[in-house]
Amino acid sequence: MTVTAAATTTTKPGQERPAGEPARQDDDFDRDVLPTPPGATAALLRSLLAPMKARVAVTTLLLLLQQAATQAGPLLVAYAIDSAVPAFRDHDNGPLVAVGVGYLLCALASGALQSTFVIAAARVNQDVLLDLRGRIFRHAQALSVDFHERYTSGRLISRSTTDVESLRELLNEGLQELVGVVLSFAYISALLLWLDLGLGAVAVASLGPLYLLIRLYQRRAKRVYRARSTAIAAVIVKFVETMNGIRPVRAFRREAVNDADFQVLNTRHERTNGDALLEMARYVIGSRLVANTAVAVIVLWGAHRVADGSLELGVLAAAVLYLRRLYDPIDRLGMFLNSYQSAAASLEKIAGLLAQTPSVPEPATPRQLPPLASEHPGREVVFDGVRFAYRTGGEVLPRFDLTLPAGQTVAVVGSTGAGKSTLAKLLARFYDPSDGRVLLDGVDLRDLAGPELRRGVVMVTQEAFLFSGTVAENIAIGRPDATREEIEEAAKAIGAHDFVTALPDGYDTDVRKRGGRISAGQRQLVAFARALLADPAVLILDEATSSLDIPGERAVQRAMATVLKGRTAVVIAHRLSTVEIADRVLVMEHGRIVEDGSPDQLVADTGRFADLHRAWRDSLA
Ligand SMILES: Nc1ncnc2c1ncn2[C@@H]1O[C@H](COP(=O)(O)OP(=O)(O)O)[C@@H](O)[C@H]1O
Ligand SMILES: [Mg+2]
Repeated sequence: MTVTAAATTTTKPGQERPAGEPARQDDDFDRDVLPTPPGATAALLRSLLAPMKARVAVTTLLLLLQQAATQAGPLLVAYAIDSAVPAFRDHDNGPLVAVGVGYLLCALASGALQSTFVIAAARVNQDVLLDLRGRIFRHAQALSVDFHERYTSGRLISRSTTDVESLRELLNEGLQELVGVVLSFAYISALLLWLDLGLGAVAVASLGPLYLLIRLYQRRAKRVYRARSTAIAAVIVKFVETMNGIRPVRAFRREAVNDADFQVLNTRHERTNGDALLEMARYVIGSRLVANTAVAVIVLWGAHRVADGSLELGVLAAAVLYLRRLYDPIDRLGMFLNSYQSAAASLEKIAGLLAQTPSVPEPATPRQLPPLASEHPGREVVFDGVRFAYRTGGEVLPRFDLTLPAGQTVAVVGSTGAGKSTLAKLLARFYDPSDGRVLLDGVDLRDLAGPELRRGVVMVTQEAFLFSGTVAENIAIGRPDATREEIEEAAKAIGAHDFVTALPDGYDTDVRKRGGRISAGQRQLVAFARALLADPAVLILDEATSSLDIPGERAVQRAMATVLKGRTAVVIAHRLSTVEIADRVLVMEHGRIVEDGSPDQLVADTGRFADLHRAWRDSLA
């Protein structure tokens, strides 16, 4: 309540930033296009199409045949005017019937081929997109925590929605049209040249300026489309960020500021859309000018030649029909090129994402942990000459050595920002040390395969995350093959059983459904049960009891005595009461371990811990 009141007086909504000033995400725009190795985009496209080479070939053949059938029409018209009609006048209706039947057959064949092609192409496209979206998900999931801290989830969503969609647009409409247009250009040019070299030459010559126009348009459109897809990504990022943080947004009355920010981004996106339309309009005007000039030249010159008898009327008619077909798709060509541009931009971004390698890679030749000595022993942890800096910041942990004997419960205390969580994350291998090694029973964490590592080390953090599914399923994530008895056993051991059985469907309550909503403290209990069920040799608790009330924390602490027995445990806690169950306490300041000893020793001492402990004692009194 006080926080909210204070926030409303100090933060005047909408006035934090001058209106029209872009939102902060803009600074990170360059990350939208990750550095893409040369050729990565083409390689991605090849690898997507490789499994369906045969189908792509068949689809292309269908398109070639369909174009041939379609472009036969005007030729038949020319034949009808110049040969069949004169023959008909001479009471020979054979040629005219042949032309009619031929025209009909070509039209039917063209339709049949077109629909077969559409279905075949759609199947290929579906498979390509299915594969691509799967790859994006798998790859993003496999990338290290470090990557996700820098590349927001909004961007990832944008990759697998907007970018995949723009590829879909290209594949479903653009590409076949584009290839169709190019093919028909080739067919028609050849036919026109064959019908009449002079008229054909005029038509082919007109393709020159059109080509230049297209190139110019493409260059300009590329810029506009880049800007547009960046702008839409920014809209999505802002949207996702706001909705993910809806609680702090409410608590700090950020709505007005967010509205203003969103408005700026939204307007910018719309403006880029307007720019794209403008470029398109310029292109259409230019291309019509060229096309109509060419038609006018051909009609005038052709008519002149028909009059002096050097050109047959049928050929001129066919030429005019072909010209219409030649120029007809040019307006649309601009559109296909648009979808080609935006798909190319999207594919480049996707390729950039897929080219990212995990900064915490799986070992090429994994090593096994030595077998455990007895039923529940922990493993020895050694930080050997470890130094660590986040990619985005300075050194957080200066070089240090630390050995945690198997089975020891170690409490880590120290002020916020001291580096406690960083130490824990190195041990859980969320990151690799910048220097040195972290060893588990003598094996470098980098040499352990994922599953082996997770059996070795499990971390429970403050933000106990629940996946969609039931409570039981959420606990079973610790050990997917666990029986219901084992799940309940774990919940009982941690003191979660009572609240779970009080839920509408007990262990089968869906945590995302109505009535299944559970509090932050209860979520932590579920996370504890999950970790307990996983039965790791090393358990890390990073402020894992911070959402529990004092009695709840006490209960967990009692339970923890059983849970931690024999395991190596690293317990990071604000409340010093947790320290009482520890065999050893480490005090951290500015990334350094400044005190190290048993709780009793440190209390008796005159150091930081003794001060902290005294202050804590006083606060209890
Ligand atoms: N993902 C990150 N990227 C960059 N710097 C970080 C990151 N996480 C933490 N830090 C920095 O590392 C230091 C130690 O943080 P942390 O280990 O979380 O401290 P503690 O858990 O003791 O509060 C802090 O200065 C913090 O700003
Ligand atoms: Mg922390």
